[in-house]
Amino acid sequence: MIRHLVRQDCGSCHGLTLKGGLGSPLTAEALAGRPDEALLATILNGRPGTAMPPWRPFLTEEEAKWVIQWLKDGAPE
Ligand code: HEC
Repeated sequence: MIRHLVRQDCGSCHGLTLKGGLGSPLTAEALAGRPDEALLATILNGRPGTAMPPWRPFLTEEEAKWVIQWLKDGAPE
């Protein structure tokens, strides 16, 4: 369910394979070593001044943390 949301909704900007598009790549390599807290803030609050929208209305903090871990694991099926 969340996997589907990420591939469809996040993929529209970050690329269907999450390798980047309008948005930066969200691959395991791209996110390796990035602090979870910073990624969590970006996902929940968006990045003002960029196309990255806030997802707080659609994702709980727990779900966003799950997404970060899943992306860092290479977005397995
Ligand atoms: C409308 C386009 C758009 C959508 C939809 C979108 N993003 Fe983004 N996202 C961006 C852009 C553009 C950036 C780069 C912002 C910048 O320049 O700092 C970004 C940045 C990010 C970053 C920071 C990456 C880094 O290397 O710092 C993360 C994490 C992220 N997005 C996750 C997501 C997730 C998860 C979703 C879906 C729930 C999503 N994005 C949906 C456009 C989008």
